Amino acid sequence: MASSSPAEVNRRLEGKVALITGGASGIGKRTAEIFVQQGAKVVIADIQDELGHSVAQTIGSSTCTYVHCDVTDESQIKNAVDTTVQTYGKLNIMFNNAGIGGPNNSRIIDNDKADFERVLSVNVTGVFLGIKHAAQAMIPARTVQSMLWLV
Ligand SMILES: NC(=O)c1ccc[n+]([C@@H]2O[C@H](COP(=O)([O-])OP(=O)(O)OC[C@H]3O[C@@H](n4cnc5c(N)ncnc54)[C@H](O)[C@@H]3O)[C@@H](O)[C@H]2O)c1
Repeated sequence: MASSSPAEVNRRLEGKVALITGGASGIGKRTAEIFVQQGAKVVIADIQDELGHSVAQTIGSSTCTYVHCDVTDESQIKNAVDTTVQTYGKLNIMFNNAGIGGPNNSRIIDNDKADFERVLSVNVTGVFLGIKHAAQAMIPARTVQSMLWLV
């Protein structure tokens, strides 16, 4: 019986295409590295352009691409999904990872409405827009593998 090498066994995402918002740093960046190690092609979408380009180049220009995307802007989310499909042919995994923390004032009376709304805009509206536009690409093409988010 033919057996697989450990490297082959580990490449669980071979042939898959992922879009990771907030992929220029932290959890998103590490996820991009691991997804590529597992065989996926990855598009990183972030607002930190210089860092995002550098991360994508370090991961590998044939397997990872950077696109500017503020997740609170619907047209930019749509563009990130469209860029992913144009670059790698499809979208299988949408990781809505981009997120921010607020000023973290422990007393409610010290918190501003504008800061609260900014957090909701990135962490909630951004996830909604990511799921919506990924689904618009995935459902007709029947390419859904995973839809993930962190808040
Ligand atoms: N639930 C928890 O306990 C928990 C713990 C840690 C992190 N998180 C969440 O995990 C996610 C990643 O956390 P992290 O520690 O890697 O944070 P991080 O700050 O290192 O990374 C977040 C990334 O999102 C990007 N980003 C911020 N606003 C954006 C926007 N409007 N559009 C696109 N990209 C944007 C940043 O540029 C950054 O690259 C966040 O959503 C965070 O809230 C949750």
